[in-house]
Amino acid sequence: MKVLVCGKGGCGKSTVVALLSKKMAKRENKVLVIDSDESNTGLHFRLGMTKPEDFMNYFGGKKILFEKTKEITGRWKLDDLPKEYLSEKGNIQLLSMGKIYQFGEGCACPINVLSSRMLEILDVGDKEFLIVDTDAGIEHFGRGVEKGVDSLVVVIEPSKDSILLAQKISDLGKQLGKATYLVLNRVNHESEMLLLESIDKEKVIAVIPENREVFMSGLAGKELKISLEGIKQIADKLEFEERKVQAKLA
Ligand SMILES: Nc1ncnc2c1ncn2[C@@H]1O[C@H](COP(=O)(O)OP(=O)(O)OP(=O)(O)O)[C@@H](O)[C@H]1O
Ligand SMILES: [Mg+2]
Repeated sequence: MKVLVCGKGGCGKSTVVALLSKKMAKRENKVLVIDSDESNTGLHFRLGMTKPEDFMNYFGGKKILFEKTKEITGRWKLDDLPKEYLSEKGNIQLLSMGKIYQFGEGCACPINVLSSRMLEILDVGDKEFLIVDTDAGIEHFGRGVEKGVDSLVVVIEPSKDSILLAQKISDLGKQLGKATYLVLNRVNHESEMLLLESIDKEKVIAVIPENREVFMSGLAGKELKISLEGIKQIADKLEFEERKVQAKLA
């Protein structure tokens, strides 16, 4: 299954991606984490992994990426990805599309186009999960990054902007025909109740409370090692949906 994690800036996307990937890997799934955020550089340390080289360099770098992505053809399996661009730890592999480094170097569009293309052509099998960490907001929808994935996981923090963005993403998900799941993050009892009044409750698959250990790991830039009930809930739901798909294929 190919899952894309999205939402407002700072809502907890990368935290959810790192913890969910670890949970899925622990359950004997093969996990490919794709970092498609061109700004933040810390996903690898949340996973306790080394930083992989930018995958855009495999195609000759950002300047020629638009042209080069047109040459990517056929279907790829996870094993077709060049090993020298992957960080690996246990059942998890990390692929980072590319980052912005220089003042005035141009927009991130080529990186988004590469993400879009790769998500479209990568095939995942039984017990394989591709989990995408995205940049904040919905620019990636404009570039069609979501086209190749099966499901969207929208992380919502307790704020009006986050609620409004989640509604917009749910609408886009519906237009695209993608299953869209909501995850409430950094909540306490009061904010959880208030959020549930404003969103489509049926779509909520997990609730993650404000957590001091997660906060301190984020501040110190340390690997996330905590086990959270909310992450288990996301993993259970995705595995359940995956089993349904595999049963249909059998
Ligand atoms: N449940 C939580 N409890 C406490 N702190 C949290 C929780 N979830 C996330 N955080 C903290 O909030 C900050 C933002 O989280 P994170 O980086 O995962 O968000 P993001 O959506 O990926 O941000 P960006 O949009 O910049 O990519 C981090 O410092 C993280 O440690
Ligand atoms: Mg992030």
